[in-house]
Amino acid sequence: MKSLSTNGFAWFITISMLCLLANSQLTTNFYSNSCPNLFSIVRKQVLNAVKTETRMAASLLRLHFHDCFVNGCDASVLLDGSDGEKTALPNNNSARGFEVVDAIKTAVESSCSGIVSCADILAIAARDSVLLSGGPSWKVLLGRRDGLVANQTGANSMLPGPFEPVDNITLKFQAVGLNLTDVVSLSGAHTIGRASCATFGNRLFNFSGTNAPDSTLLDANMVSGLQNLCPVNGDSSRVTDLDWNSTDLFDNHYFQNLINGRGILESDQFLYSSDQAVSTTRSIVELYSNNTKLFFNDFANSMIKMGNIQPLTGSAGEIRKNCRVVNS
Ligand code: HEM
Ligand SMILES: *[C@@H]1O[C@H](CO)[C@@H](O)[C@H](O)[C@H]1NC(C)=O
Ligand SMILES: *[C@@H]1O[C@H](CO)[C@@H](O)[C@H](O)[C@H]1NC(C)=O
Ligand SMILES: *[C@@H]1O[C@H](CO)[C@@H](O)[C@H](O)[C@H]1NC(C)=O
Ligand SMILES: *[C@@H]1O[C@H](CO)[C@@H](O)[C@H](O)[C@H]1NC(C)=O
Ligand SMILES: *[C@@H]1O[C@H](CO)[C@@H](O)[C@H](O)[C@H]1NC(C)=O
Ligand SMILES: *[C@@H]1O[C@H](CO)[C@@H](O)[C@H](O)[C@H]1NC(C)=O
Ligand SMILES: *[C@@H]1O[C@H](CO)[C@@H](O)[C@H](O)[C@H]1NC(C)=O
Repeated sequence: MKSLSTNGFAWFITISMLCLLANSQLTTNFYSNSCPNLFSIVRKQVLNAVKTETRMAASLLRLHFHDCFVNGCDASVLLDGSDGEKTALPNNNSARGFEVVDAIKTAVESSCSGIVSCADILAIAARDSVLLSGGPSWKVLLGRRDGLVANQTGANSMLPGPFEPVDNITLKFQAVGLNLTDVVSLSGAHTIGRASCATFGNRLFNFSGTNAPDSTLLDANMVSGLQNLCPVNGDSSRVTDLDWNSTDLFDNHYFQNLINGRGILESDQFLYSSDQAVSTTRSIVELYSNNTKLFFNDFANSMIKMGNIQPLTGSAGEIRKNCRVVNS
């Protein structure tokens, strides 16, 4: 009797552990047998791309973010098609790096065909991009599979926008299981990359509408430079650096900039300067502004959390052959 119940308990433990494994557990060594050179293959491709264009690091990092917030990290952002996520408002004429992802995928396929998901490639490329820009590194969790659908409506509703106040952005992060620490640390990604006039032009001129700028929120010396770049009715696709202090370097200057009224996006500056920031994000901005180690550590942890948003695992989804289309 006693041994039977012990036996039953052992089975219970075994089955629980199997369920846990089947239930969306990503691991760092997922491809260590099936694609042992994966990390060096991806690193080489990212390095090539960043050497050709420094900004590409930022663009690849942003792609992983825009993937994970919409239907989880399933490479849905990479799917071509007029109803895809690429033409959703936050991505249209703005998300970039798709050719680089193609090049990485081609290189990976030539070594280990049909093994590695596009979603995992995005996660590794994001890590490498941050590292190559001078930022922290972390062990990337792997084992995601690729989704079968894109979600344009989801991209329009789930991704935070540059005119949104702290509370709205926090809600969007909470919707995917991320908290206030993640909001601020991940916003530090804006220490690299560019933003187009379309995303901050509203701060530069006094329109008669509701978007009159608050001069206390934007450094006066920056205003004139940005007004020249982004005249009313000018080309809204022209870009400026998100971090004017150290453009392509991944450091904590983004947070120092916010304290000095030098955030480019209104949503950036809100993290420090708005009423809503006082009891929420402002103190975290201050912490990171003079503690690079803490910022790097928190950023790495938040990236791992973001990479864990609703992955497809087991036999869900597929391993896409071409990141732009679902397998036929
Ligand atoms: C917190 C809310 C966020 C908002 C409102 C926001 C908004 C934006 C906007 C409007 C741009 C400029 C796009 C353009 O003009 O083409 C941008 C660029 C960028 N964002 Fe964010 N973002 C947020 C969070 C994040 C996060 C969490 C990451 C990554 C972890 C990220 C990474 C980037 C990068 C690297 C760029 C530059 C991309 C490039 O140069 O190609 N952002 N973001
Ligand atoms: C995306 O941008 C293109 C080119 O600027 C534009 O013609 C198209 O209407 C935009 N698509 C959406 C869905 O906004
Ligand atoms: C698209 O995203 C929205 C918001 O997350 C979600 O409610 C909806 O179920 C998704 N649709 C598809 C087809 O995945
Ligand atoms: C913030 O969220 C509220 C409530 O959902 C919404 O009414 C408002 O338009 C949002 N603000 C912006 C700037 O998107
Ligand atoms: C956010 O979550 C992390 C763990 O994922 C935790 O360490 C941190 O304290 C949380 N931050 C807040 C503001 O709750
Ligand atoms: C907008 O108008 C206010 C009040 O007249 C002024 O203080 C501010 O400097 C103006 N901003 C710009 C960008 O011209
Ligand atoms: C960048 O920030 C550093 C540290 O705050 C400061 O010493 C330096 O003057 C800044 N450089 C520029 C170009 O703003
Ligand atoms: C860190 O920065 C905050 C905000 O600027 C400031 O109040 C604090 O004194 C600084 N701490 C140190 C140790 O420099």
